[in-house]
Amino acid sequence: MCGIVGFVGKKACADILVKALKRLEYRGYDSAGIAVFEGDSLKTVKAKGKIDEGLVRKLSEETPLTATAGIGHTRWATHGEPSDINSHPIGNGRISIVHNGIIENYRKIKEFLISKGYVFESETDTETVAKLLDYYYKGDPMEAIVKTAAEIEGSFALGIIFKDFKNTIFAIRRESPLIVGKGEGESFIASDVTAILDHTKDYYLLEHNEIARLDENGARFFDFNGNVIEKALHTADWDLDAAEKGGYKFFMLKEIHEQPEAIRKTITPRISDGMPDLSECGLTPEKLRGYKNIFVVACGTAMHAGLVGKYVVERIGRIPVTVEVASEFRYRNPIVSPDDLVILVSQSGETADTHAALTLAKDMGAETLAIVNAKGSKIARDADMVIYTHAGPELAVASTKAYMVQLAVFYLFAFELAWARNAISEEKCRSLVKGLEEMPALIEKVLEKPDSSQFAASKLVAAENLLYIGRGLDYALSMEGSLKLKEVSYIHSESYAAGELKHGTISLITEGMPVISVATQTDVFDKTVSNIKEVKTRGAYNIVVARESRQPGSDAADFIITVPETDDILMPMLAVVPLQLIAYYTGDLKGNDVDKPRNLAKSVTVE
Ligand code: F6R
Repeated sequence: MCGIVGFVGKKACADILVKALKRLEYRGYDSAGIAVFEGDSLKTVKAKGKIDEGLVRKLSEETPLTATAGIGHTRWATHGEPSDINSHPIGNGRISIVHNGIIENYRKIKEFLISKGYVFESETDTETVAKLLDYYYKGDPMEAIVKTAAEIEGSFALGIIFKDFKNTIFAIRRESPLIVGKGEGESFIASDVTAILDHTKDYYLLEHNEIARLDENGARFFDFNGNVIEKALHTADWDLDAAEKGGYKFFMLKEIHEQPEAIRKTITPRISDGMPDLSECGLTPEKLRGYKNIFVVACGTAMHAGLVGKYVVERIGRIPVTVEVASEFRYRNPIVSPDDLVILVSQSGETADTHAALTLAKDMGAETLAIVNAKGSKIARDADMVIYTHAGPELAVASTKAYMVQLAVFYLFAFELAWARNAISEEKCRSLVKGLEEMPALIEKVLEKPDSSQFAASKLVAAENLLYIGRGLDYALSMEGSLKLKEVSYIHSESYAAGELKHGTISLITEGMPVISVATQTDVFDKTVSNIKEVKTRGAYNIVVARESRQPGSDAADFIITVPETDDILMPMLAVVPLQLIAYYTGDLKGNDVDKPRNLAKSVTVE
């Protein structure tokens, strides 16, 4: 969703801002702009469309800017269509702002401001903030910011510049993320650290209702009473390589290939003497023995990781697990008690619905555990316990490596829980942990042979509809395969429990329609193969993902993609890789912008 950047230093800033905005492109956007201190004025350049086609083209038509401080924005439209006028920065000649978030009471404020004679140009909620700041600004920026922040409701991260305060940026946040970067003689604001990695890895996390003031002397932080706040400096453990494509055509492909390393980084610190050890986050064996129910609440791909987690935890830990999408959980008055554990899964740690579910679970007295990739993010900070996944920056909108490490954490969690509750022997636990440790090398083997996934993609590229089917863990996985394909190829697909097909959905099968089956689970293999045959009889073209040692015959499968051997329970980590590759290659064959699929944003900070 929207991205914010800002720079104050000694160099010309327009290119720096544009480059930083490009680093935030992955968040999803439909327009971009900058506002800088040019001479004695505030100069704004903004345009609908991709940065290169809109903003950069407009900048190239201008006299080159010499400003050394300014703010920038990528907008993902919520209030008002994507257009030049609705793009940020928004303001007048004396104040300009960039905003990420949603102002919930903007109508009321707008009415008030209209009654005071203000005329609105855009359809955005952001314009009410710019005008309210203008209304309260009587020469003291801090006073105007504090008064404005006290009146606006909702979520916001704001970068603000005042013409009278040359080369100074003010920033404030509530809910929406914002960091302040510290370079050599230069300072930055950004929605996340990837935007500033070209310049520095050092940053401060701006907390709720803190105000940052950046000028040529660096950054200072204040509370609403104007008191100075001392803040801890963090150093990003992501380097620039991680934020660049490194020879891959798309980030998505690079991130699929980074999965083995991401698993190693995520599990190694949590395995001690061959046994799982999640004590770092406060999950003790006593706690694991005490929970009555487990809920996993998340959105999209993160929810799909939770589905695999459910099958695994229930199978070996023998405790009920409910998995639910956060947007449903938060509004259905769920039955959650203080004896329950609610696990929130989120790559970004910013997802609005998942955060609301976290707040609800806490209000209901449950203990909360966040599985999050982005350090210091909202969900990570507000949960009782947090396990960070170490995927590094995931820049492709379609999640792959973040899903993989969410699975890895669910496995460790399930193993430790099952062992703590005496549901499995120590020997079994050790052998499962060993299997998990072997996973990166096995995934590398799958990645060495992308040809079969490429071939499968060539069979899908002309399809208008297809089905993914599976049973048990294979079904949980096929949901993720289907979502991935929809996201990046725009082909309509549905995932179905294989045994449920003949209760209705099998009517959709037509001659030549592709069906992707996942058939890795030993206990239900024969049943799944029967279902594969059922669709073949009705004309389907069957692509089957199966283990090397157990494959369906040619009477069922038209094309088989095999994965190496591992324990049934660990199979999803291997079998998801061809599904990710099939989605990637299909999207690429269709000529889509695989990293930035239409209509999607990377972190969904609105409901
Ligand atoms: C799909 C995808 C989304 C996210 C979902 C939750 O590839 O990335 O479905 O999984 O929007 O996002 P996070 O994990 O940031 O909470």
